[in-house]
Amino acid sequence: MTNPLSQGSLTGKNALVTGSSRGIGADTIKYFADAGASVVINYRNKEARALKLVEQIEAEGGKAIAVGADLTDSDSVKSMFETAVATFGPLDILVMNASGGMESGMGEDYAMRLNRDSQVNLLKIAIGYLKPGARVVFVTSHQAHFIRNTPTMPEYLPVALSKRAGEDALREMIPELTESGIEFVVVSGDMIEGTITATLLERSNPGAIEARRSGAGKLYNVGEFAAEVALAAVEPVPADNTRLVGDTSDFS
Ligand SMILES: NC(=O)c1ccc[n+]([C@@H]2O[C@H](COP(=O)([O-])OP(=O)(O)OC[C@H]3O[C@@H](n4cnc5c(N)ncnc54)[C@H](OP(=O)(O)O)[C@@H]3O)[C@@H](O)[C@H]2O)c1
Repeated sequence: MTNPLSQGSLTGKNALVTGSSRGIGADTIKYFADAGASVVINYRNKEARALKLVEQIEAEGGKAIAVGADLTDSDSVKSMFETAVATFGPLDILVMNASGGMESGMGEDYAMRLNRDSQVNLLKIAIGYLKPGARVVFVTSHQAHFIRNTPTMPEYLPVALSKRAGEDALREMIPELTESGIEFVVVSGDMIEGTITATLLERSNPGAIEARRSGAGKLYNVGEFAAEVALAAVEPVPADNTRLVGDTSDFS
């Protein structure tokens, strides 16, 4: 994994990434910590995995804590920010990475509750814990970002619609964020090689990964996409607050 952020570039900064005990969130946390940031790893119920990541970061000289919070539980979100700020101080970077909606047995409206309502609730709470000049990054997929014009696989449709609804609702908060001196960027990417979501979608749609690989020319892996997420937290805010990763010519 090559860190796109230079050593020491985040010294003195604090970053929280939701859903960061595994996958893209975990790699993003590692880049931040390696660049000198104090990091808050949020997990839902995988405490052991989150603590292992804390240990790994501390062994390399970094500063990290793991805080459990289910984003659909407002009280746990509030106490996550309380703990983060009590430990390291107000946050410079918040990455809204946690996502879901393909889990079974969570109720029909779960995708919308998690990917729209809980994201909006989290950002409203977060405003009080972010420094002026802080950056918020919302992570999404091309399959969700472009869902209004480009159809997706049926198993992913509820996730795509809810993530797009979440993105729209968060964008509506930009004027309020700007008033508090907070910047906002959406990062969107195609299917990511090696993720649980891509594996599940491939299982019910054999050939889906290869179809996207040939459509896009190349698919990013977890470390490569996390590098784009990390850069989105520090590079100038792009036009329309949107960072599109890779080739999007199959989407419109
Ligand atoms: N996978 C792809 O192909 C792909 C492509 C483009 C964009 N993205 C975006 O990248 C981001 C990360 O994707 P990923 O594939 O790395 O995800 P993932 O492996 O499915 O991980 C999702 C993370 O979200 C957490 N989470 C789920 N429900 C939660 C809840 N209710 N409260 C708190 N945390 C919760 C999970 O925590 P636990 O481990 O504790 O359950 C996990 O850490 C998502 O926003 C996704 O839309 C993914």
